[in-house]
Amino acid sequence: MILPTIDYRKGRVEIIDQTLLPGRLRVLRLRSLAELEEAIGSLRVRGAPAIGLAAAYGMLLSLEEHLRKRVKGAPRYFFDRGSFVTPFSDAGISAGEIRRALESARKRIAATRPTAANLFWALDRVAHAARHGGRDPFEICCSTAAEAFWIHHEELEIELAIGRNGERLIRDGMNVLTHCNAGGLATAGFGTALGVLYAAWEKGKRFHVYVDETRPLLQGARLTAWELSRRRIPHTLLCDGAAASLFAAGKVDAVVVGADRVAANGDTANKVGTLGLAVLCARYKRPFYVAAPASTFDHSIPAGSSIPIEERGGREVTSIGGRRIAPEGTRAYNPAFDVTPATLVRAIVTERGVIKHPNSAKIRLFAKG
Ligand code: MRU
Repeated sequence: MILPTIDYRKGRVEIIDQTLLPGRLRVLRLRSLAELEEAIGSLRVRGAPAIGLAAAYGMLLSLEEHLRKRVKGAPRYFFDRGSFVTPFSDAGISAGEIRRALESARKRIAATRPTAANLFWALDRVAHAARHGGRDPFEICCSTAAEAFWIHHEELEIELAIGRNGERLIRDGMNVLTHCNAGGLATAGFGTALGVLYAAWEKGKRFHVYVDETRPLLQGARLTAWELSRRRIPHTLLCDGAAASLFAAGKVDAVVVGADRVAANGDTANKVGTLGLAVLCARYKRPFYVAAPASTFDHSIPAGSSIPIEERGGREVTSIGGRRIAPEGTRAYNPAFDVTPATLVRAIVTERGVIKHPNSAKIRLFAKG
């Protein structure tokens, strides 16, 4: 049951508008880079791997926009994941202007959200393909499209591999707690943390999931509960503040979460509230697992303290669903992520295997492949 979270069809980036779930399942067709920037910034498309795909497709969309203005007798669309690239004449267009258009798109997309490593990783990959993918404009466009579509194809394979590697950690009868949404919606369609649970369920294991609501934007209540309901996996929703009492009552056997960025020493940034769960796991001697693809690792950042943490507008905290809950003038603190030290992580599940008790040496080995 793969969720088609994101796609590139007939010159448009298609996304499920996650801000409308669970009430409405609506596909948005983005036709400009400005629309794509808005969609990432307002979390219509969200979750580190999905943001990475959106970034790759944003590069393609910027080319689409540029070519629409510059190609005489332009076709209805230039790029499509099914048919690839519509042939066009690049007469009068220079390779330099194509590269400049891509470079400007890269800067704009990089400014949308700062924490998820996947966004920068995808931009680098597409930019690299454009730089080395031929001399004439048509060739560069083909290389750019091939790379973006390849990233998408690979991503799904990677998620399935994470599921296979991680399902061994899940036993029959367990109560597993998760935070935010690291499922199909946050990825190419299967998930990372939830992918581990889906793979275990598909193997016939039976367990129960506790879902943190995940204030302020309620990704747990709106998205994770929705995904688990679709798959008929038993789950219970709780307010974030109720997690400690659940541990104290002995009702949590393990925590599984996703990640937005993993530093070179294994420190891990994920949705704000994750650190509290890791501390609870340490206090109550329960395993804290992270599931993330290699594209979430940032080997250039030595430790979690250097991971840029997005700070979002206070209105997300002082309101719920657009409705003010705090008195006028109340100030709010709204970091979107927090950092869990590697010492609190029992294992990181990746597509290449499970890194138990992560540290710099193990992450260095992992980087070598
Ligand atoms: O702000 P969001 O909703 O993009 O945050 C998402 C998370 O924190 C996820 O847990 C993380 O990106 C992993 S998604 C597989």
